[in-house]
Amino acid sequence: MNLFTGNRRIVRSLYLVILIFVAILLAIFWQPDRPAEISVPLAQPVAKQRIASQLEDVSRVKEPIQPIPLAIALDGNKVVLGKQLFEDVRLSGNNRIACVSCHQFDRGGADGRSHSIGANGTLGEVNTPTVFNVGFNFWLNWNGEFENLTDQLDALLLNPERMGVEWSILIPKLQQIPEYVRAFTKLYADGLNKANLQDAIVTYEESLSTPNSRFDRFLRGDKQALTPAEYTGYQLFQAYGCISCHQGINVGGNMFQRFGVLGDYFADRGNVIPEDLGRFNVTQDPADRFVFRVPSLRNVALTAPYFHDGTAKTLPEAIAVMAKYQLGRSLSQNQIDLIAQFLGTLTGEKPS
Ligand code: HEC
Ligand code: HEC
Repeated sequence: MNLFTGNRRIVRSLYLVILIFVAILLAIFWQPDRPAEISVPLAQPVAKQRIASQLEDVSRVKEPIQPIPLAIALDGNKVVLGKQLFEDVRLSGNNRIACVSCHQFDRGGADGRSHSIGANGTLGEVNTPTVFNVGFNFWLNWNGEFENLTDQLDALLLNPERMGVEWSILIPKLQQIPEYVRAFTKLYADGLNKANLQDAIVTYEESLSTPNSRFDRFLRGDKQALTPAEYTGYQLFQAYGCISCHQGINVGGNMFQRFGVLGDYFADRGNVIPEDLGRFNVTQDPADRFVFRVPSLRNVALTAPYFHDGTAKTLPEAIAVMAKYQLGRSLSQNQIDLIAQFLGTLTGEKPS
């Protein structure tokens, strides 16, 4: 064995070592362009809300999203009274604003603004979510602070950025209005008081569901209800893992997740304010920083702008942000468009 062949051998084994090293690196870091592994938890009942017991048996629907019941049995007279209250500016501290000012029916139950303008004229700190289908959410508000509509109502009446009124002022004020006194006395044995006012408004909120969307018709077996493009969008929504967070009857509303799982959304956006800390503001647990209730995507095509900070002006923009920060992906314009088309099929019938 001369010096020359010895060197060749060393070079060859060096090549081999490098090759193995590169192969190991590839095996560790190479991510083929395949959809994320997703595990979709079984749909749970809407345990925390009053109308949970009315959810129909949809065990035959073998999909991670369930249709909204076609009808919900509620006391029609309470619904009518609740509607009057919902639309009455006298519920606000300065008689200038009603629930419907921010939760407008021709804007998908939201207000079309990035931030709402409250009774006192100041800008709110978060975007207005839709009031439609709230009876199916497990938690309420962006940070999921409330588990039922009654507690949520208490807080928003008091909040100077919403209605800005205290019960001790509101109840005597409404008791001066004979029309309300009469209506409450007719429906409730103990007439107009705090509990009954809460009940009337909450009953009305529970009536604000939007059944029979094209997607629900698809879930109920009408395979023609979606166009091929919309169906492809649904497949992408599942394959990319949107469904692992947005699922159940409200296509959201039933879990908490960080905004920025695979990227630092807030660092990229800048100007972090206390409301951006999300669930942390409720629990004070550092693990809950930037964690939010996953919002419902029902009627989402109607409720721009998007996110708790109202920064995404269009649905395609919101989808791209979600793909980037929640899934670590950059979707093509065509994929975004297909998912947007699917989300459009979640628009249901407006409450009458
Ligand atoms: C000034 C605008 C404004 C007014 C007026 C207003 N809201 Fe809201 N509403 C909001 C905003 C903003 C939120 C989100 C609050 C948060 O997440 O911290 C919200 C949240 C809600 C939610 C929770 C939705 C969800 O899925 O989490 C319900 C229900 C609701 N409002 C009902 C009402 C009712 C009933 C009234 C009248 C008594 C009312 N709102 C008045 C702006 C308003
Ligand atoms: C890891 C959980 C998670 C995944 C995966 C996820 N989302 Fe979200 N989504 C959220 C959370 C949390 C928010 C609320 C963010 C905020 O505004 O604070 C949200 C908000 C949204 C909104 C805005 C809703 C509104 O009313 O403002 C849209 C639209 C949306 N997601 C669509 C999608 C799509 C499409 C995908 C897949 C490409 C997806 N999401 C994947 C958790 C997730």
